[in-house]
Amino acid sequence: MSVSGSGLDPAALQAMANAMFSAPPGAEPAFGQAPAAPSGPINLGSPLPPGGIPVAGQNNPLPVATTLPMTPPLRTTQPGAAELAAPPSFITPRVVPTQAQTPDLHGLQSTVLPALPKGGSSFAGVPEGFAALLPGAAPAPNLSDAAVPSSAQPPSSPYYFLGDASSASGVPESPPLNLASLSDPFGLSAPTRISGEPPRSSGSTSAAPSSPHSNVSAPSFYFADLGAKPAAPKVAPGRGIFDVATARRDFPILSTRVNGGKPLVWLDNAATTQKPQSVIDRISYFYANENSNIHRAAHELAARATDAYESARKKVANFIGASSPEEIIFVRGTTEGINLVAQSWGKQNIGEGDEIVISHLEHHANIVPWQMLTAEKGAVLRVIPVDNTGQVRLDEYQKLLSSRTKIVAVTQVSNALGTVVPVKEIIDLGHRYGAKVLIDGAQSVSHMRVDVQALDADFFVFSGHKLFGPTGIGVVFGKRGILEHTPPYQGGGNMIEDVTFDKTVYQGPPARFEAGTGNIADAVGLGAAIDYIERLGMENIARQEHDLLEYGTEALCRIPGLCMIGTAKHKTSVMSFVLEGFTTAEVGQALSEEGIAVRSGHHCAQPILRRFGLEFTVRPSLAFYNTFEEIDLLAATVRRLSQTRRRG
Ligand code: ALA
Repeated sequence: MSVSGSGLDPAALQAMANAMFSAPPGAEPAFGQAPAAPSGPINLGSPLPPGGIPVAGQNNPLPVATTLPMTPPLRTTQPGAAELAAPPSFITPRVVPTQAQTPDLHGLQSTVLPALPKGGSSFAGVPEGFAALLPGAAPAPNLSDAAVPSSAQPPSSPYYFLGDASSASGVPESPPLNLASLSDPFGLSAPTRISGEPPRSSGSTSAAPSSPHSNVSAPSFYFADLGAKPAAPKVAPGRGIFDVATARRDFPILSTRVNGGKPLVWLDNAATTQKPQSVIDRISYFYANENSNIHRAAHELAARATDAYESARKKVANFIGASSPEEIIFVRGTTEGINLVAQSWGKQNIGEGDEIVISHLEHHANIVPWQMLTAEKGAVLRVIPVDNTGQVRLDEYQKLLSSRTKIVAVTQVSNALGTVVPVKEIIDLGHRYGAKVLIDGAQSVSHMRVDVQALDADFFVFSGHKLFGPTGIGVVFGKRGILEHTPPYQGGGNMIEDVTFDKTVYQGPPARFEAGTGNIADAVGLGAAIDYIERLGMENIARQEHDLLEYGTEALCRIPGLCMIGTAKHKTSVMSFVLEGFTTAEVGQALSEEGIAVRSGHHCAQPILRRFGLEFTVRPSLAFYNTFEEIDLLAATVRRLSQTRRRG
């Protein structure tokens, strides 16, 4: 497909980029320098100049998308070691990763994705807890087996979660299911009881439009490589998987209006995800019917609360492929989880001169706890550099490993760039040197199937609130054999076998690591979120988001003056960018005025933004409930802003 340029010449771009890179730390780049005379060819086939994304201090221009850029194919298979950048001979491992790296434009191609029509398609999921309660409800359909209805055959049920159980035609809008009338709507302690009230109608009775992606050749998916989980469900030709409009109705906040009546466009999913009604209801039900402290009393409510809490632990274990619920520790979130590992296993196993390896992509939560430990122990922090696309360099990683390496702690997905890191290779290489490996799954668990046993991760941590669950609840997975020999993180009630004034005998894992009364209700809510996701199907979610990301990347990169930060071949969810002539706060404000919520700032990941010569980016981040129309609004708003670019 041919493309045409639309604006500034390369010299002008270079002038702007140099202005940006010469901006002092903390300052936003000053764009808008007068363009110099054109010189040299411009690469029409890439959003980046020959040589890739320059870094601070280099005389290379920051690529801004003033010509129609080509979206790098977002291949979503995990990269193997051999696919990553060949090690340039002049690069040597350092404590601080080098910024002088060979350009590495994986897979940038001179092709443009076909213009994609918008719209969703039929989806047959089951919102938590409701389907079995509904009159005439069929057993919950198993999405992994269910074929999506063909375009010629609209779904016959008014309830997207009931498949073909009832007729689509002529079903009036029904009053909402009245939870209060059900003594046990989640079916937890008695056989299912039906209130007799008609179910809430999804209102989605029309044939879904055809797939927006029927022209896209079959991609490969990273989640297909992990092996241990069911394959993606069959999809009728020409159909997508989700009826997004219907699935969105599970999330009440997505109908909210902001800024004087603008529909909310939630593109801040990397910061937190929204919650389906089933999660909200489950937490409410807990407080209405089960609330008690756990594990300590013989009364009925203690049993209900304990059952609910331990059931959530089992759901988490199944969800991430742990071998038993005893490997699942509930904490407040990823940050507390990493601190737990650093302060328990780390304090026990890391001494003077030992080394901890992290990557340049890490969130502050996977940097600071290790810095605190190195300061306390006299250990050394080593950092895996990234290439110019924002992917970690496995060749450099290998050079950092030695018998001194005690733990490697890396993110599976970068919160600032969206890079999907090849954690399987990182784990395998770390294990060769006897190191333990912790994976920060905060940004991955909502986007891809995780199997900690297939990965062979020693520790895996994540937060419930990024997984459509509540805030204040998170998870540490640790291999049982490791947790059994790891001392507690905090002392107190609930974590002991026996206490005398002479000594305390601790419980085994996981109770040993859960001192005090934990966040019981939100653990239960996290279990409901996992139920919800399992019903949608993680493979379906990943495919939908992949399509949204390709579409969004393409749309944004067409905007003159916009520079995408993070162009790794393997990405998910995140579209970080800067816009020539505007601070990231200004872009965020302009988007907010249209009802679009994004994060603009440093994303708690200052080192990786500085690697690209930046202090801040604008970061739209996706979830499966986002739509192509929302991305159109995002792109149109940014484009309109770019057209008012300041010249002074
Ligand atoms: N870690 C969250 C983010 O990336 C808060 O925005």
